[in-house]
Amino acid sequence: MKIMWGITGAGHLLKESINVLNKLSKKHEITIIFSNAGLEVVKLYGYYKKIEKIIKQNPNNRLILEDDQKYSYPLSGKLTHQKYDLIIISPTTANTTAKIVHGIADTLITNVVAQSGKGQIPLIIVPVDQKQGLIKTTLPPRIDKDICKRCKMCMAKQICPTKAFNPPEIDTSKCIRCMECEGCCMHNAIISNEIMELYIRKIDADNTKKLEEIENITTLFHPEEILNDERIN
Ligand SMILES: Cc1cc2nc3c(=O)[nH]c(=O)nc-3n(C[C@H](O)[C@H](O)[C@H](O)COP(=O)(O)O)c2cc1C
Repeated sequence: MKIMWGITGAGHLLKESINVLNKLSKKHEITIIFSNAGLEVVKLYGYYKKIEKIIKQNPNNRLILEDDQKYSYPLSGKLTHQKYDLIIISPTTANTTAKIVHGIADTLITNVVAQSGKGQIPLIIVPVDQKQGLIKTTLPPRIDKDICKRCKMCMAKQICPTKAFNPPEIDTSKCIRCMECEGCCMHNAIISNEIMELYIRKIDADNTKKLEEIENITTLFHPEEILNDERIN
């Protein structure tokens, strides 16, 4: 099966999405597309190396970035004759969901969504803003600048296998989130798995409900649910 997987700029459900993407890539040919924010957020969380690994699993796998495309998003026009069997967007930000339900196509991902409808290719969307109210989400790893003492002999810097650790910053383009650094700082300046409470607005939850009104879209509420889809097995 030929699957296109889109990643937008949401930290929520990002790790879970990449885990499922990794599982699917063992059995299927995968094209990964990013929104610009998606690429940035994946790097911030230190997951970019995982994406590269998935791409290398099959010579037919492809990675397409928003900046590789011109304003009319030629890739989305080619969708139908490149014969994708399924398109998945997970995680899908409140921003992209809002654009989809209002028929806006002005990014690579929203163009692919619009074109998938025109080409009648099944589309699964996993929106992150689901129900109005508070949710808990995990933040990217960081160094607390107030706690970091800029030690001359920084153990965390020494142990980092990708040289991403440059106190008081972590270079997110190099960090592979191995978390070898965790516990190395005697001042406990490395903050990982930091949980933040966020309020999901009514407008964003309402937009998620409206996804169900769009013909070719199936809305799922957790990436793991994709694995139950009979088209995939
Ligand atoms: C670290 C980080 C995490 C984010 N997580 C979310 C999120 O969980 N949900 C969301 O709707 N937006 C989130 N955003 C904001 C989006 O990235 C931002 O609205 C962006 O413009 C969305 O663009 P896109 O929909 O084209 O990907 C996050 C931003 C950052 C920097």
